[in-house]
Amino acid sequence: MARAELIVVEDLPDAGVRLFLETAPRTVALSGGSTPRALYEELSRADFAWQSLDMFFGDERCVSASDPDSNFRMANEALLSKVPARAHPMCDCDPEAYESELGDVFGPARPSFDLVWLGLGEDGHTASLFPGDPALDVTDRNVVRVDRPDHARMTLTLPVLCAARLAVFLVSGPSKREPLARLLAGADIPAARVDAERTLILADRAAAG
Ligand code: 6PG
Repeated sequence: MARAELIVVEDLPDAGVRLFLETAPRTVALSGGSTPRALYEELSRADFAWQSLDMFFGDERCVSASDPDSNFRMANEALLSKVPARAHPMCDCDPEAYESELGDVFGPARPSFDLVWLGLGEDGHTASLFPGDPALDVTDRNVVRVDRPDHARMTLTLPVLCAARLAVFLVSGPSKREPLARLLAGADIPAARVDAERTLILADRAAAG
């Protein structure tokens, strides 16, 4: 497994936008949660060939698109409503439908995203792949439903995350210091199983210590 490369930055959104522009992706999987919002907002102001871009989601909570917990709602407010990229929300908590939508862009092969944005949960989860969850071991599907105490969710599976050309964890704030240390130490947390062609961790100083 190629080790993830840690880059400690002063300004996480700025570093993320610069990395995005350097990568010039045609296919992207967006992370949810709260960390990416500032990056997505800054990205929405970037000069980019948005019409060439397909933006999917790494995971979604099975809630309405207007629900405050919706990853689509956050990404749409911050970015998708402001740029002419093709957005592919995870709708209706229907993994089969999303498999088909992935197939429309990637064909029958395993989806290989140019860029996957990922978050790091305090328990070491990423996307909606949680410690001890059977979804972690799924290899025959690209998208699965995950049942959680807060919401049912949908998530891309590890084989898809690992097929990415570039996977980038966005890690911010003191609450992520411990999971980041575990990730860097090679602990067996879901985030540590992401082994893309290139795996980067963009962390601010508050998280990196
Ligand atoms: C989700 C996210 C999840 C998130 C982490 C970190 O749907 O919850 O995809 O994997 O990235 O939980 O979330 P924060 O950025 O809010 O800390």
